[in-house]
Amino acid sequence: MIVHILLGPPGCGKGTTAKQLVGEFALTHLSTGDILRDAVSKGTEIGLRAKAIMAAGKLVDDDTVNGLVFARLRDETQDVLFDGYPRTLQQAEALGTFLSTQGIETGFVINIEVPESVLEARVVGRRVCSNSDCGAIYHLQNKPPKVANVCDKCGSSLKHRADDSSEAFKSRMVEFNATFQPMAAYYRGGKQYRRVDGNRTPDQVFVTLSQFFKENA
Ligand code: AP5
Ligand code: MG
Repeated sequence: MIVHILLGPPGCGKGTTAKQLVGEFALTHLSTGDILRDAVSKGTEIGLRAKAIMAAGKLVDDDTVNGLVFARLRDETQDVLFDGYPRTLQQAEALGTFLSTQGIETGFVINIEVPESVLEARVVGRRVCSNSDCGAIYHLQNKPPKVANVCDKCGSSLKHRADDSSEAFKSRMVEFNATFQPMAAYYRGGKQYRRVDGNRTPDQVFVTLSQFFKENA
């Protein structure tokens, strides 16, 4: 089993690209944001603790997130594509220790780079399918659904994430800027670390990432 990692700021396209990649390659998409949002909507103990933290654009504590991830990895048989994890140096180190004790390899670590100036509009204009089994991602301008507020794929209604306001976005960027460099430094210099320009169309980004996985096959 191999674990691949997508890194990058809020709105850089991690979820969009991950959904395209799992449609093409045998990968399980593990988004800690999606796992936490599911916990919030189910009202689990973790969800109840995480709800206000996430809505305010702050990070959920490392031990909680690591615990959720390791539990999922123990059940996994397919290669995994992480989206939004790890997020701090502590998470990267804890993941590294967990993977080596389990004999799991780290594959690509892909840093999707997008200038901060374009991210806010991406996040504020995002709409997502309310059916968590679908979770399709739209954008009011860049990728509108065919029928307003209805998911093209499953017909469910679309929703606006609680943390997709301008205010929460600013706080998410503060968190990102405080944690990203030390975490990325843990991976930088590794043979499978890749920087990708995410300020292109989603299809262009997908083609670049697909190439990595094809060459590796
Ligand atoms: P999470 O859900 O991971 O949010 P995020 O990292 O802020 O990333 P986003 O989901 O906002 O963006 P994305 O990169 O997936 O972009 P997308 O493809 O949707 O985390 C949410 C919260 O959960 C955190 O704030 C924290 O509280 C908690 N959390 C999660 N993980 C944690 C962890 N490890 N530790 C602690 N706390 C954690 O695209 C965005 C929009 O842009 C869409 O509308 C899309 O259509 C559009 N778009 C995508 N690509 C393009 C493109 N190339 N061109 C134009 N538009 C595009
Ligand atoms: Mg996402």
